Amino acid sequence: MAESYIMAIDEGTTSTRAIIFNHAGEKVYTAQKEFPQLFPEPGWVEHDPEQIWNAVQTTVASAFINSQIRPNQISAIGITNQRETTVIWDKKTGRPVYNAIVWQSRQTTALAEELKNKGYSDLIKSKTGLIIDPYFSATKIRWILDHIKNGQKRAENGELLFGTIDTWLVWKLTNGAVHVTDYTNASRTMLFNIHDLVWDEEILKILDIPKQMLPEVKSNSEIYGQTTPFEFFGGKVPIAGMAGDQQAALFGQLALSPGMVKNTYGTGSFIVMNTGTKPTSSNNNLLTTIAYKVNGKVVYALEGSVFVAGSAIQWLRDSVKLIKKTPESEQAARESTSENEVYVVPAFTGLGAPYWDAEARGAIFGITRGTTDKDLIKATLQSLAYQTRDVVDTMQHDSGIEIPALRVDGGASNNDYLMQFQADILGTKIERAATLETTGLGAAFLAGLSVGYWQDINELKQIAKIGQTFNSEMTNIEREKLYAGWQKAVKATQFFAH
Ligand code: G3P
Repeated sequence: MAESYIMAIDEGTTSTRAIIFNHAGEKVYTAQKEFPQLFPEPGWVEHDPEQIWNAVQTTVASAFINSQIRPNQISAIGITNQRETTVIWDKKTGRPVYNAIVWQSRQTTALAEELKNKGYSDLIKSKTGLIIDPYFSATKIRWILDHIKNGQKRAENGELLFGTIDTWLVWKLTNGAVHVTDYTNASRTMLFNIHDLVWDEEILKILDIPKQMLPEVKSNSEIYGQTTPFEFFGGKVPIAGMAGDQQAALFGQLALSPGMVKNTYGTGSFIVMNTGTKPTSSNNNLLTTIAYKVNGKVVYALEGSVFVAGSAIQWLRDSVKLIKKTPESEQAARESTSENEVYVVPAFTGLGAPYWDAEARGAIFGITRGTTDKDLIKATLQSLAYQTRDVVDTMQHDSGIEIPALRVDGGASNNDYLMQFQADILGTKIERAATLETTGLGAAFLAGLSVGYWQDINELKQIAKIGQTFNSEMTNIEREKLYAGWQKAVKATQFFAH
Protein backbone atom coordinates (compact mmCIF):
# COMPACT_ATOMS: atom_id res chain seq x y z
CA MET A 1 0.00 0.00 0.00
CA ALA A 2 1.23 3.52 -0.80
CA GLU A 3 2.55 5.53 2.14
CA SER A 4 0.14 8.01 3.74
CA TYR A 5 0.82 11.59 4.81
CA ILE A 6 -0.69 14.62 6.53
CA MET A 7 -1.00 17.92 4.70
CA ALA A 8 -0.81 21.21 6.59
CA ILE A 9 -2.12 24.34 4.94
CA ASP A 10 -0.45 27.31 6.61
CA GLU A 11 -2.14 30.48 5.42
CA GLY A 12 0.06 33.30 6.74
CA THR A 13 -0.02 37.07 6.39
CA THR A 14 2.23 37.36 3.38
CA SER A 15 2.30 33.86 1.93
CA THR A 16 0.55 30.53 1.92
CA ARG A 17 2.24 27.17 2.33
CA ALA A 18 1.10 23.63 1.68
CA ILE A 19 3.36 21.24 3.56
CA ILE A 20 3.29 17.46 3.35
CA PHE A 21 4.54 15.67 6.48
CA ASN A 22 5.32 11.97 6.79
CA HIS A 23 4.81 9.74 9.79
CA ALA A 24 8.20 10.73 11.23
CA GLY A 25 7.02 14.36 11.20
CA GLU A 26 9.48 15.19 8.43
CA LYS A 27 8.66 17.69 5.73
CA VAL A 28 8.39 15.78 2.50
CA TYR A 29 7.48 18.77 0.38
CA THR A 30 6.64 22.45 0.89
CA ALA A 31 5.05 24.66 -1.72
CA GLN A 32 4.84 28.37 -1.00
CA LYS A 33 3.21 31.32 -2.71
CA GLU A 34 3.19 34.97 -1.77
CA PHE A 35 0.08 37.01 -2.51
CA PRO A 36 -0.48 40.77 -2.85
CA GLN A 37 -0.68 43.02 0.18
CA LEU A 38 -3.13 45.86 -0.38
CA PHE A 39 -2.61 49.22 1.33
CA PRO A 40 -5.61 51.32 0.27
CA GLU A 41 -4.75 54.09 2.76
CA PRO A 42 -1.89 54.74 5.18
CA GLY A 43 -2.10 52.27 8.04
CA TRP A 44 -4.69 50.06 6.28
CA VAL A 45 -3.82 46.49 5.25
CA GLU A 46 -6.16 44.31 3.20
CA HIS A 47 -6.08 41.02 1.26
CA ASP A 48 -8.29 39.75 -1.52
CA PRO A 49 -9.86 36.55 -0.09
CA GLU A 50 -10.12 35.08 -3.60
CA GLN A 51 -6.36 35.57 -4.05
CA ILE A 52 -5.81 33.77 -0.76
CA TRP A 53 -7.95 30.87 -1.96
CA ASN A 54 -6.11 30.91 -5.25
CA ALA A 55 -2.76 30.77 -3.42
CA VAL A 56 -4.00 27.81 -1.37
CA GLN A 57 -5.10 25.90 -4.46
CA THR A 58 -1.88 26.71 -6.30
CA THR A 59 0.33 25.55 -3.45
CA VAL A 60 -1.70 22.36 -2.87
CA ALA A 61 -1.52 21.53 -6.59
CA SER A 62 2.18 22.28 -6.73
CA ALA A 63 2.83 20.10 -3.65
CA PHE A 64 1.06 17.16 -5.33
CA ILE A 65 2.72 17.63 -8.69
CA ASN A 66 6.24 18.06 -7.36
CA SER A 67 6.12 15.41 -4.64
CA GLN A 68 4.29 12.89 -6.83
CA ILE A 69 2.07 12.22 -3.83
CA ARG A 70 -1.58 11.77 -4.70
CA PRO A 71 -4.52 13.39 -2.90
CA ASN A 72 -5.77 9.95 -1.80
CA GLN A 73 -2.49 9.41 0.08
CA ILE A 74 -3.33 12.31 2.40
CA SER A 75 -4.91 10.92 5.58
CA ALA A 76 -6.01 14.31 6.86
CA ILE A 77 -5.58 18.05 6.38
CA GLY A 78 -4.66 20.48 9.16
CA ILE A 79 -5.34 24.17 8.67
CA THR A 80 -3.51 26.99 10.39
CA ASN A 81 -3.84 30.65 9.63
CA GLN A 82 -3.07 34.31 10.23
CA ARG A 83 -5.52 35.10 12.99
CA GLU A 84 -8.06 37.95 13.40
CA THR A 85 -8.08 38.76 9.67
CA THR A 86 -11.73 39.18 8.81
CA VAL A 87 -13.68 38.02 5.76
CA ILE A 88 -17.38 38.52 5.12
CA TRP A 89 -19.02 36.85 2.15
CA ASP A 90 -22.39 36.31 0.55
CA LYS A 91 -23.77 32.94 1.62
CA LYS A 92 -25.46 32.30 -1.74
CA THR A 93 -22.84 33.43 -4.22
CA GLY A 94 -19.79 32.72 -2.07
CA ARG A 95 -18.32 36.07 -3.14
CA PRO A 96 -16.62 38.23 -0.50
CA VAL A 97 -18.50 41.51 -0.01
CA TYR A 98 -15.29 43.40 0.80
CA ASN A 99 -11.56 42.65 0.97
CA ALA A 100 -10.30 40.77 4.02
CA ILE A 101 -9.26 43.32 6.64
CA VAL A 102 -5.90 42.11 7.88
CA TRP A 103 -5.02 41.86 11.58
CA GLN A 104 -2.38 44.58 11.16
CA SER A 105 -4.83 47.08 9.70
CA ARG A 106 -5.58 50.23 11.63
CA GLN A 107 -8.72 51.32 9.75
CA THR A 108 -10.96 50.64 12.72
CA THR A 109 -8.94 52.71 15.22
CA ALA A 110 -11.82 55.18 15.66
CA LEU A 111 -14.28 52.36 16.40
CA ALA A 112 -11.93 50.85 18.97
CA GLU A 113 -11.45 54.27 20.59
CA GLU A 114 -15.21 54.73 20.75
CA LEU A 115 -15.60 51.43 22.61
CA LYS A 116 -12.87 52.45 25.05
CA ASN A 117 -14.44 55.86 25.59
CA LYS A 118 -17.78 54.25 26.31
CA GLY A 119 -16.04 52.41 29.15
CA TYR A 120 -16.15 48.83 27.78
CA SER A 121 -12.48 47.98 28.38
CA ASP A 122 -12.99 46.02 31.61
CA LEU A 123 -16.04 44.18 30.34
CA ILE A 124 -14.27 43.13 27.13
CA LYS A 125 -11.15 42.09 29.00
CA SER A 126 -13.01 40.05 31.59
CA LYS A 127 -15.03 38.19 28.96
CA THR A 128 -12.61 37.80 26.05
CA GLY A 129 -9.19 38.17 27.71
CA LEU A 130 -8.35 40.85 25.13
CA ILE A 131 -7.53 44.56 25.09
CA ILE A 132 -9.81 46.70 22.94
CA ASP A 133 -7.78 47.26 19.77
CA PRO A 134 -8.35 47.41 15.99
CA TYR A 135 -6.18 44.24 15.84
CA PHE A 136 -9.09 41.92 16.66
CA SER A 137 -11.94 40.93 14.33
CA ALA A 138 -14.89 42.56 16.12
CA THR A 139 -14.41 46.16 14.95
CA LYS A 140 -13.41 44.91 11.49
CA ILE A 141 -16.78 43.14 11.14
CA ARG A 142 -18.59 46.28 12.24
CA TRP A 143 -16.57 48.36 9.76
CA ILE A 144 -17.39 46.11 6.80
CA LEU A 145 -21.10 46.02 7.63
CA ASP A 146 -21.05 49.82 7.80
CA HIS A 147 -19.18 50.26 4.53
CA ILE A 148 -21.08 48.01 2.13
CA LYS A 149 -24.57 48.63 0.82
CA ASN A 150 -27.26 47.39 3.24
CA GLY A 151 -24.61 45.52 5.22
CA GLN A 152 -26.45 45.40 8.51
CA LYS A 153 -29.75 44.43 6.92
CA ARG A 154 -28.19 41.68 4.80
CA ALA A 155 -26.39 40.28 7.85
CA GLU A 156 -29.59 40.31 9.88
CA ASN A 157 -31.39 38.50 7.05
CA GLY A 158 -28.79 35.75 7.21
CA GLU A 159 -27.40 36.58 3.77
CA LEU A 160 -23.83 37.19 4.96
CA LEU A 161 -21.29 34.94 6.66
CA PHE A 162 -18.29 35.98 8.73
CA GLY A 163 -15.11 34.02 9.10
CA THR A 164 -11.48 34.29 10.00
CA ILE A 165 -9.20 32.73 7.37
CA ASP A 166 -9.60 29.18 8.79
CA THR A 167 -13.37 29.50 8.36
CA TRP A 168 -13.04 30.87 4.84
CA LEU A 169 -10.74 28.02 3.78
CA VAL A 170 -12.85 25.22 5.27
CA TRP A 171 -15.90 26.75 3.62
CA LYS A 172 -14.08 26.84 0.27
CA LEU A 173 -12.56 23.35 0.59
CA THR A 174 -15.97 21.87 1.39
CA ASN A 175 -17.62 23.89 -1.37
CA GLY A 176 -19.76 25.86 1.06
CA ALA A 177 -20.97 22.89 3.14
CA VAL A 178 -19.23 23.72 6.43
CA HIS A 179 -19.16 27.05 8.30
CA VAL A 180 -16.95 26.55 11.37
CA THR A 181 -14.07 28.02 13.30
CA ASP A 182 -12.07 26.69 16.25
CA TYR A 183 -11.55 27.81 19.85
CA THR A 184 -8.22 29.52 19.19
CA ASN A 185 -9.40 31.61 16.26
CA ALA A 186 -12.69 32.42 18.00
CA SER A 187 -10.74 33.66 21.01
CA ARG A 188 -9.15 36.36 18.82
CA THR A 189 -12.36 37.91 17.53
CA MET A 190 -13.13 39.90 20.70
CA LEU A 191 -16.62 38.36 20.51
CA PHE A 192 -15.95 35.01 22.19
CA ASN A 193 -16.39 34.44 25.89
CA ILE A 194 -13.32 32.44 26.83
CA HIS A 195 -14.79 31.32 30.16
CA ASP A 196 -18.25 30.18 29.02
CA LEU A 197 -16.85 29.15 25.61
CA VAL A 198 -19.67 30.74 23.60
CA TRP A 199 -20.16 33.81 21.40
CA ASP A 200 -20.90 36.52 23.92
CA GLU A 201 -24.44 37.90 23.55
CA GLU A 202 -23.66 41.13 25.40
CA ILE A 203 -20.68 42.04 23.23
CA LEU A 204 -22.59 41.11 20.08
CA LYS A 205 -25.29 43.51 21.20
CA ILE A 206 -22.85 46.33 21.96
CA LEU A 207 -21.43 46.05 18.43
CA ASP A 208 -24.77 45.16 16.86
CA ILE A 209 -23.30 42.09 15.15
CA PRO A 210 -25.95 39.53 14.13
CA LYS A 211 -25.14 36.14 15.62
CA GLN A 212 -26.37 34.25 12.56
CA MET A 213 -23.36 35.38 10.59
CA LEU A 214 -20.91 33.72 13.01
CA PRO A 215 -19.46 30.23 12.48
CA GLU A 216 -19.92 27.26 14.79
CA VAL A 217 -16.96 26.91 17.18
CA LYS A 218 -15.18 23.53 17.26
CA SER A 219 -12.26 21.96 19.11
CA ASN A 220 -8.77 21.94 17.55
CA SER A 221 -8.57 18.29 16.73
CA GLU A 222 -11.69 16.75 15.20
CA ILE A 223 -13.14 16.12 11.76
CA TYR A 224 -14.95 19.24 10.57
CA GLY A 225 -15.80 18.01 7.09
CA GLN A 226 -14.40 16.45 3.93
CA THR A 227 -12.91 18.26 0.98
CA THR A 228 -14.98 17.97 -2.17
CA PRO A 229 -13.00 16.27 -4.95
CA PHE A 230 -13.27 19.30 -7.23
CA GLU A 231 -11.74 21.60 -4.60
CA PHE A 232 -8.99 19.15 -3.63
CA PHE A 233 -7.79 17.81 -6.97
CA GLY A 234 -9.83 14.62 -6.89
CA GLY A 235 -9.36 13.84 -3.18
CA LYS A 236 -12.11 13.47 -0.58
CA VAL A 237 -10.00 14.11 2.50
CA PRO A 238 -11.02 14.87 6.10
CA ILE A 239 -10.14 18.33 7.40
CA ALA A 240 -9.29 17.19 10.90
CA GLY A 241 -7.23 19.85 12.70
CA MET A 242 -7.39 23.60 12.86
CA ALA A 243 -5.76 26.33 14.96
CA GLY A 244 -4.63 29.93 14.66
CA ASP A 245 -0.98 29.99 13.64
CA GLN A 246 0.49 31.03 16.98
CA GLN A 247 -1.40 28.39 18.87
CA ALA A 248 -0.47 25.83 16.21
CA ALA A 249 3.20 26.76 16.73
CA LEU A 250 2.81 26.27 20.50
CA PHE A 251 1.36 22.82 19.79
CA GLY A 252 4.06 22.08 17.21
CA GLN A 253 6.70 22.95 19.81
CA LEU A 254 4.85 20.58 22.17
CA ALA A 255 4.82 23.37 24.75
CA LEU A 256 1.99 21.54 26.43
CA SER A 257 2.88 22.03 30.11
CA PRO A 258 2.14 25.19 32.09
CA GLY A 259 5.07 27.63 32.03
CA MET A 260 6.38 26.59 28.62
CA VAL A 261 6.86 29.52 26.24
CA LYS A 262 7.46 29.86 22.51
CA ASN A 263 8.20 32.76 20.21
CA THR A 264 7.47 32.57 16.50
CA TYR A 265 9.26 35.15 14.38
CA GLY A 266 6.88 35.55 11.45
CA THR A 267 5.52 38.75 9.95
CA GLY A 268 4.98 39.74 13.56
CA SER A 269 6.41 38.03 16.60
CA PHE A 270 4.14 36.21 18.96
CA ILE A 271 5.25 35.05 22.38
CA VAL A 272 2.85 32.56 23.91
CA MET A 273 3.01 30.92 27.33
CA ASN A 274 0.98 27.85 28.23
CA THR A 275 -0.77 28.67 31.52
CA GLY A 276 -2.76 25.45 31.98
CA THR A 277 -6.48 24.85 32.36
CA LYS A 278 -7.31 28.09 34.18
CA PRO A 279 -7.06 31.47 32.42
CA THR A 280 -4.38 33.78 33.87
CA SER A 281 -5.17 37.47 33.71
CA SER A 282 -2.44 40.02 32.99
CA ASN A 283 -2.14 43.37 34.74
CA ASN A 284 0.27 44.60 32.12
CA ASN A 285 -1.54 44.33 28.83
CA LEU A 286 -0.79 40.79 27.80
CA LEU A 287 -3.67 38.88 26.28
CA THR A 288 -5.40 35.92 27.86
CA THR A 289 -6.31 33.55 25.09
CA ILE A 290 -7.16 29.94 24.33
CA ALA A 291 -4.13 27.76 23.58
CA TYR A 292 -6.10 24.72 22.40
CA LYS A 293 -8.95 22.39 23.12
CA VAL A 294 -7.91 18.80 22.57
CA ASN A 295 -9.52 15.67 24.03
CA GLY A 296 -12.23 17.80 25.66
CA LYS A 297 -9.72 19.82 27.72
CA VAL A 298 -9.39 23.59 27.25
CA VAL A 299 -5.90 24.98 27.88
CA TYR A 300 -5.24 28.72 28.16
CA ALA A 301 -2.27 30.92 27.33
CA LEU A 302 -0.84 34.36 27.93
CA GLU A 303 0.25 36.07 24.76
CA GLY A 304 2.31 39.10 23.85
CA SER A 305 1.73 40.13 20.24
CA VAL A 306 4.44 42.15 18.53
CA PHE A 307 3.09 43.53 15.26
CA VAL A 308 6.30 44.01 13.31
CA ALA A 309 9.14 41.48 13.30
CA GLY A 310 9.95 39.70 10.01
CA SER A 311 8.12 42.50 8.23
CA ALA A 312 10.82 44.91 9.49
CA ILE A 313 13.39 42.80 7.63
CA GLN A 314 11.12 42.82 4.57
CA TRP A 315 11.00 46.60 4.91
CA LEU A 316 14.82 46.66 4.75
CA ARG A 317 14.60 44.57 1.58
CA ASP A 318 11.56 46.01 -0.23
CA SER A 319 11.19 49.62 0.88
CA VAL A 320 14.54 51.06 1.89
CA LYS A 321 16.40 48.45 -0.17
CA LEU A 322 19.39 48.01 2.13
CA ILE A 323 19.46 44.28 1.37
CA LYS A 324 18.45 42.20 -1.65
CA LYS A 325 17.50 39.04 0.23
CA THR A 326 16.50 38.75 3.88
CA PRO A 327 19.27 36.25 4.86
CA GLU A 328 21.84 38.94 3.91
CA SER A 329 20.82 40.78 7.06
CA GLU A 330 22.82 38.33 9.18
CA GLN A 331 26.15 39.01 7.47
CA ALA A 332 25.51 42.77 7.43
CA ALA A 333 24.78 42.78 11.18
CA ARG A 334 28.00 40.91 11.86
CA GLU A 335 29.96 43.41 9.75
CA SER A 336 28.45 46.45 11.46
CA THR A 337 30.98 48.27 13.61
CA SER A 338 28.42 50.25 15.64
CA GLU A 339 28.46 49.72 19.37
CA ASN A 340 24.72 49.17 19.44
CA GLU A 341 23.99 52.86 19.88
CA VAL A 342 21.47 52.90 17.00
CA TYR A 343 17.86 51.92 17.77
CA VAL A 344 15.14 51.26 15.21
CA VAL A 345 11.62 51.18 16.66
CA PRO A 346 9.56 49.52 13.89
CA ALA A 347 6.16 50.76 15.04
CA PHE A 348 4.90 50.73 11.43
CA THR A 349 1.37 49.77 12.42
CA GLY A 350 1.37 51.04 15.97
CA LEU A 351 2.80 49.14 18.92
CA GLY A 352 1.35 45.90 20.26
CA ALA A 353 2.14 44.32 23.62
CA PRO A 354 2.79 45.64 26.18
CA TYR A 355 2.21 49.20 24.88
CA TRP A 356 -0.96 48.89 22.77
CA ASP A 357 -0.49 52.21 21.06
CA ALA A 358 -2.37 52.23 17.75
CA GLU A 359 -1.13 55.73 16.87
CA ALA A 360 2.63 55.15 17.25
CA ARG A 361 4.72 55.09 14.06
CA GLY A 362 8.31 53.96 13.45
CA ALA A 363 11.43 55.91 14.40
CA ILE A 364 15.22 55.65 14.29
CA PHE A 365 17.47 56.98 17.07
CA GLY A 366 21.16 57.40 17.73
CA ILE A 367 22.43 57.92 14.19
CA THR A 368 25.63 59.90 13.61
CA ARG A 369 27.51 61.01 10.49
CA GLY A 370 29.31 57.67 10.61
CA THR A 371 26.21 55.46 10.76
CA THR A 372 26.15 52.95 7.90
CA ASP A 373 23.58 50.76 6.17
CA LYS A 374 24.97 47.81 8.13
CA ASP A 375 24.38 49.58 11.42
CA LEU A 376 20.76 50.22 10.45
CA ILE A 377 20.32 46.59 9.44
CA LYS A 378 21.79 45.43 12.75
CA ALA A 379 19.57 47.80 14.73
CA THR A 380 16.50 46.57 12.83
CA LEU A 381 17.35 42.95 13.68
CA GLN A 382 17.95 43.91 17.28
CA SER A 383 14.50 45.51 17.46
CA LEU A 384 12.99 42.03 17.13
CA ALA A 385 14.94 40.91 20.18
CA TYR A 386 14.15 44.03 22.23
CA GLN A 387 10.43 43.72 21.50
CA THR A 388 10.58 40.09 22.60
CA ARG A 389 12.25 41.14 25.85
CA ASP A 390 9.47 43.69 26.48
CA VAL A 391 6.98 40.83 26.37
CA VAL A 392 9.01 38.17 28.17
CA ASP A 393 9.71 40.53 31.11
CA THR A 394 6.00 41.30 31.38
CA MET A 395 5.08 37.64 31.12
CA GLN A 396 7.42 36.62 33.92
CA HIS A 397 6.01 39.39 36.04
CA ASP A 398 2.34 38.59 35.39
CA SER A 399 2.57 34.83 35.63
CA GLY A 400 5.03 34.78 38.51
CA ILE A 401 6.91 32.12 36.54
CA GLU A 402 10.56 32.58 35.67
CA ILE A 403 11.11 31.52 32.08
CA PRO A 404 14.16 29.25 31.96
CA ALA A 405 14.17 28.86 28.18
CA LEU A 406 12.43 30.37 25.18
CA ARG A 407 11.53 27.98 22.37
CA VAL A 408 11.76 29.70 19.02
CA ASP A 409 10.68 29.03 15.46
CA GLY A 410 9.59 30.88 12.32
CA GLY A 411 11.62 32.36 9.46
CA ALA A 412 13.83 34.87 11.31
CA SER A 413 14.77 32.29 13.98
CA ASN A 414 17.08 30.93 11.29
CA ASN A 415 19.23 34.03 11.74
CA ASP A 416 22.03 33.00 14.13
CA TYR A 417 23.07 36.61 14.81
CA LEU A 418 19.53 37.45 15.91
CA MET A 419 19.22 34.32 18.06
CA GLN A 420 22.50 35.04 19.85
CA PHE A 421 21.47 38.66 20.45
CA GLN A 422 18.09 37.40 21.67
CA ALA A 423 19.78 35.14 24.23
CA ASP A 424 22.07 38.04 25.23
CA ILE A 425 19.36 40.64 25.68
CA LEU A 426 17.09 38.25 27.58
CA GLY A 427 19.80 36.52 29.60
CA THR A 428 17.81 33.36 28.85
CA LYS A 429 18.54 30.22 26.90
CA ILE A 430 17.09 30.10 23.38
CA GLU A 431 16.04 26.69 22.06
CA ARG A 432 15.50 26.63 18.32
CA ALA A 433 13.15 23.96 16.99
CA ALA A 434 14.64 21.42 14.60
CA THR A 435 11.71 22.02 12.24
CA LEU A 436 11.28 25.74 11.75
CA GLU A 437 7.89 25.10 10.13
CA THR A 438 6.56 24.50 13.62
CA THR A 439 3.27 26.18 12.80
CA GLY A 440 2.56 23.71 9.99
CA LEU A 441 3.79 20.84 12.12
CA GLY A 442 1.37 21.83 14.90
CA ALA A 443 -1.56 21.84 12.47
CA ALA A 444 -0.43 18.46 11.12
CA PHE A 445 -0.20 17.07 14.68
CA LEU A 446 -3.74 18.25 15.46
CA ALA A 447 -5.11 16.68 12.28
CA GLY A 448 -3.06 13.50 12.60
CA LEU A 449 -4.16 12.93 16.20
CA SER A 450 -7.81 13.24 15.30
CA VAL A 451 -7.70 10.55 12.58
CA GLY A 452 -5.35 8.23 14.50
CA TYR A 453 -2.38 8.83 12.16
CA TRP A 454 -0.46 9.45 15.38
CA GLN A 455 -1.78 7.70 18.47
CA ASP A 456 -1.12 10.23 21.22
CA ILE A 457 1.11 13.03 22.53
CA ASN A 458 3.76 10.54 23.62
CA GLU A 459 4.21 9.49 20.04
CA LEU A 460 4.54 13.18 19.03
CA LYS A 461 7.31 13.67 21.60
CA GLN A 462 9.53 11.45 19.50
CA ILE A 463 9.00 13.83 16.60
CA ALA A 464 9.20 17.44 17.91
CA LYS A 465 12.88 18.01 18.59
CA ILE A 466 15.10 20.94 19.56
CA GLY A 467 17.73 21.77 16.95
CA GLN A 468 20.20 24.29 18.37
CA THR A 469 20.47 26.24 21.60
CA PHE A 470 21.97 29.71 22.20
CA ASN A 471 23.19 30.85 25.62
CA SER A 472 23.76 34.42 26.73
CA GLU A 473 27.32 35.68 26.37
CA MET A 474 26.66 39.26 27.49
CA THR A 475 27.36 40.75 30.90
CA ASN A 476 24.43 41.88 32.97
CA ILE A 477 25.64 45.48 32.98
CA GLU A 478 25.88 45.60 29.18
CA ARG A 479 22.50 43.93 28.77
CA GLU A 480 20.69 46.38 31.03
CA LYS A 481 22.46 49.38 29.50
CA LEU A 482 21.34 48.39 26.00
CA TYR A 483 17.81 47.60 27.12
CA ALA A 484 17.48 50.94 28.93
CA GLY A 485 18.38 52.63 25.62
CA TRP A 486 15.60 50.69 23.88
CA GLN A 487 13.05 51.71 26.49
CA LYS A 488 14.04 55.37 26.03
CA ALA A 489 13.67 55.01 22.26
CA VAL A 490 10.16 53.54 22.58
CA LYS A 491 9.10 56.32 24.94
CA ALA A 492 10.38 58.97 22.53
CA THR A 493 8.56 57.27 19.63
CA GLN A 494 5.29 57.36 21.53
CA PHE A 495 5.89 60.96 22.62
CA PHE A 496 6.30 61.98 18.98
CA ALA A 497 3.06 60.27 17.92
CA HIS A 498 0.77 61.94 20.44
O1 G3P B 1 -2.21 37.47 15.08
C1 G3P B 1 -1.64 37.53 13.81
C2 G3P B 1 -0.82 36.31 13.52
O2 G3P B 1 -1.61 35.19 13.62
C3 G3P B 1 -0.11 36.44 12.19
O3 G3P B 1 0.90 35.52 12.11
O4 G3P B 1 2.76 34.33 11.09
O5 G3P B 1 1.27 35.61 9.64
O6 G3P B 1 2.83 36.77 11.20
P1 G3P B 1 2.01 35.59 10.91
